[in-house]
Amino acid sequence: MTRKLTDSEAWRALQAHRASLAGFSLRDAFARDERRFERFSRRFGAAGGELLIDFSKHLIDERALELLLDLAQASGVRARIDAMFAGARINVTEDRAALHVALRDLSPRPLVMDGIDVKAQAAAVRERFLDFAERVRAGAAAGHTGARFSDVVNLGIGGSDLGPQMMVQALAPFHDGPRVHFVANVDPAHLDATLRRLDPRSTLFIVASKTFTTAETMANARAARAWLAAALGEAAVERHFVAVSANARQAAAFGIAADRVFEFWDWVGGRYSLWSAIGLPIAIAVGRARFMEMLAGAHAIDEHFRTAPFADNLPVLMALVGLWYVDFWGAGTLSIAPYSQHLSRFVAHIQQLDMESNGKRVTVDGEVVDYATGPVVWGEPGTNAQHAYFQWLQQAPALAPVDFIVAAETEYDDDRHRMLVANCFAQSAALAFGKARQEARAEMIAAGVDELHAERLAPHREFPGNRPSTTILVRRFDPFALGMLTALYEHKVFVQASIWNINPFDQWGVELGKSIAARVAAALADSAVPLDAASAGLVAAWRAMRER
Ligand code: F6P
Repeated sequence: MTRKLTDSEAWRALQAHRASLAGFSLRDAFARDERRFERFSRRFGAAGGELLIDFSKHLIDERALELLLDLAQASGVRARIDAMFAGARINVTEDRAALHVALRDLSPRPLVMDGIDVKAQAAAVRERFLDFAERVRAGAAAGHTGARFSDVVNLGIGGSDLGPQMMVQALAPFHDGPRVHFVANVDPAHLDATLRRLDPRSTLFIVASKTFTTAETMANARAARAWLAAALGEAAVERHFVAVSANARQAAAFGIAADRVFEFWDWVGGRYSLWSAIGLPIAIAVGRARFMEMLAGAHAIDEHFRTAPFADNLPVLMALVGLWYVDFWGAGTLSIAPYSQHLSRFVAHIQQLDMESNGKRVTVDGEVVDYATGPVVWGEPGTNAQHAYFQWLQQAPALAPVDFIVAAETEYDDDRHRMLVANCFAQSAALAFGKARQEARAEMIAAGVDELHAERLAPHREFPGNRPSTTILVRRFDPFALGMLTALYEHKVFVQASIWNINPFDQWGVELGKSIAARVAAALADSAVPLDAASAGLVAAWRAMRER
């Protein structure tokens, strides 16, 4: 029996302190301390970029932060960080290392695991896929008829889709290569809608699957191959398909030649893989140099994470304020609002990263936890989100912390950019400081509303405030900054997992549904296949509807 987290001194001290903060008011905290913004903000400057993270609008005081830092120390976070960077097999249920940091470590320091320098191994494959990306961009790697590739379709799902898709979209201002499309859903409508606009002669497919056994991806790859072969013949497949996988054998079985398979390894988790050959679509869209800048941005955060004291360590601080709400305020969600249209898939990527990693109920030792773990992560880009669900954030009874993300500069430096930034800053102020009922009433009376009416409306126009948020400000959403941002969230998730003593690198929770789906699929085709009563009912109803 391991020591229980909830019995630890650090945890208990936090519970007691949380109780003492019952009447904490962000309005008062800022009124009392004119340096609160400075005191609770952290700046990070690396050669390629800079960022500011403002934690001042959180329901914390100096003591809360101190106690949260104590919890991180007492939970052995430092040792876990060291173990990850050293290549220890910290993914204990799969007996693997988690070395996504090695993929972007551009320093000459070797990293030897089981006698192999994994950094050299990663660099060799990186050279191959970046070289291929450049040849596609230049038209040197062309299609069966000699036509240049104008469109690239990535066929993958989960981590083999969301990370590269998010990044390709986020870097839209830097695109100077072929158009890149992503098809993940096994719903034929997805592939069909994509292919309808494409010419097989100039279309390249990337089959992206770590395992090369994921049912949806394999079904889409077979359908894409049939589409291509129908137009250009079987012999064309060779030039129009490449694979990215840790399973070279299965890729070969699919018919992809060895020199067209870009490898990655079991020590790269799917949702941490965009830095590997899974990033091929990114490299095709923006080119080698931009891809390397993205890696450099992530590496800058890795170095900071590995070496900075916890009190100034950005991922550690992000993790601690997150855990504070999940475990001590009963707030089980994190809403993320990137104020950038190009970042419209950012939340989907972080959602997988966080929820597939930390959606766990047992510790690494297999004991059921008695505390909440990873939050529900959700959100949409601002300002759209303001006109959709911000009503709920501002006035519903639930407490839901928000991460606001915005850039100081964009390629469109006009009034609308200033409107975008103003809205971002304004929403966090509205959440934090609210509007008292008397203020709402006085405003209405000043605007000529009669007293009775003002009295009746005031509760509806009151904003309770005291709703916490983080604001992340970057100079520009360029490849370096996107690398930094993504790595920040990766490490934040890791720190939380370390404190909760759970394994963020496995995903057993996706398996049961997969195996039931295989059985249901068999039953849809053959009514003699036995199923549980509930599924059998649905299958019978499905069949009846189709027969009517
Ligand atoms: O089903 C979940 C999952 O295993 C994810 O963890 C992973 O990112 C995704 O499926 C795709 O897996 P693969 O890259 O092996 O096709």
